[in-house]
Amino acid sequence: MRAQVGIIGGGPSGLLLSQLLHLQGISTAVLERRSRAHVLGRIRAGVLEQGFQNLMRQAEIAQRMDREGQVHTGVNIAYQEDRLRIDLEGLTGGKTVMVYGQTEVTHDLYEARDALDGVVIDEAEDVTPHDLQSDTPYLTFRKDGAEERLDCDFVIGCDGFHGVSRQCIPDDVLQSFERVYPFGWLGVLSETPPVNEELIYARHDVGFALCSLRGPQLSRYYVQVKADENPDDWSDDAFWERLKATIPAEVAQRLVTGPSIEKSVAPLRSFVAEPLRWGRLFLAGDAAHIVPPTGAKGLNLAASDIQYLSSALIDWYKKGDSSGIDNYSARALKRVWKAERFSWWMTSLLHRFPENEGFGDRIQRAEFDYLASSKAAQTVLAENYVGLPY
Ligand code: FAD
Ligand code: DHB
Repeated sequence: MRAQVGIIGGGPSGLLLSQLLHLQGISTAVLERRSRAHVLGRIRAGVLEQGFQNLMRQAEIAQRMDREGQVHTGVNIAYQEDRLRIDLEGLTGGKTVMVYGQTEVTHDLYEARDALDGVVIDEAEDVTPHDLQSDTPYLTFRKDGAEERLDCDFVIGCDGFHGVSRQCIPDDVLQSFERVYPFGWLGVLSETPPVNEELIYARHDVGFALCSLRGPQLSRYYVQVKADENPDDWSDDAFWERLKATIPAEVAQRLVTGPSIEKSVAPLRSFVAEPLRWGRLFLAGDAAHIVPPTGAKGLNLAASDIQYLSSALIDWYKKGDSSGIDNYSARALKRVWKAERFSWWMTSLLHRFPENEGFGDRIQRAEFDYLASSKAAQTVLAENYVGLPY
């Protein structure tokens, strides 16, 4: 089997890249380890920057997003009983974000790949890259018990944090930068009306909570828990109690509770691998970097990588111009580190750090009060939240 570009991982990064390249006549094959049902069942991010939306439009898969996605012109930050609305639109000269779940994005991407007869091989086992330092790399894998081989010009690692591609880069080349936080997020999806029409990120004595949504009858909520917490140890009642205790009372009294239809714990981590290129291997999305979810940057960062990488590969194939692929790592990392900074800052502002009692708590309060009193500070938050330019 041969494709010009071999892509490991059928998450948003891999599918988006294959769709964008396919539209330019560049052949791709996506190798995904899990079943399609598994990939489509994952509940993850919910907030799309305009850059992400534009990439979906460029990939000709934005019709449903533009119809069903909700444009949000503001976001709320609460500290104890105080609530502050950040006017995203007013502070950024008209920029907004869109609430449209990653599950829907992935669904639309698979549908678009199928419509163009794109090659996406699911349940591909033991995907292994070879000869990445040569001009003729290839991938081997097993499908339905048979050994297969995919020859290509480039291998793109879109296989998430636990994938194989990053591990191919030798230790003396790859540098990793990491911060692991002493907590995670317990997320619940419930078929209840959202407590607020805009998102609320809240910090209270008991920790952090986020009130988000997917639609008029579908709410997504998160509370701060221990990193190794088992979601099964949380009854629905215990979850709702914790959420109510973490958001301002005027919000809590409006909360409509109901049975959870999904419950999971995500650990919080900041991670960056450098460089993003080794020979003919390129890393993109979670394979290369992780942000804590506070600020909703994970999925959006995957999109900017894919924007840089797709245009670089198109220039290489169409114009014989290698400057894009040569600059990809440095260019993408500049934006990655700014999103890492913002996500780390939002996480530091809004979580309860066990070691922070006293001085740290007062600093967080002062940070919130400053934010509430300073248009300049709110503008900084707003321009990062809507997404820095590509
Ligand atoms: P992924 O979505 O991880 O896709 C990688 C794909 O590669 C997967 O389908 C995987 O099965 C496949 N794969 C892995 N290894 C192999 C292999 N060896 N061979 C073949 N295929 C392989 N971001 C937010 O902004 N907000 C959130 O609330 C949020 N919540 C999250 C919760 C969890 C539990 C996780 C893990 C992430 C969350 N994120 C969130 C981050 C966001 O979902 C990711 O940034 C986004 O999914 C990145 O897309 P990706 O395609 O790069 O990676
Ligand atoms: C959602 C997740 C986030 O991490 C975030 O910052 C905002 C929204 C969500 O799942 O809706």
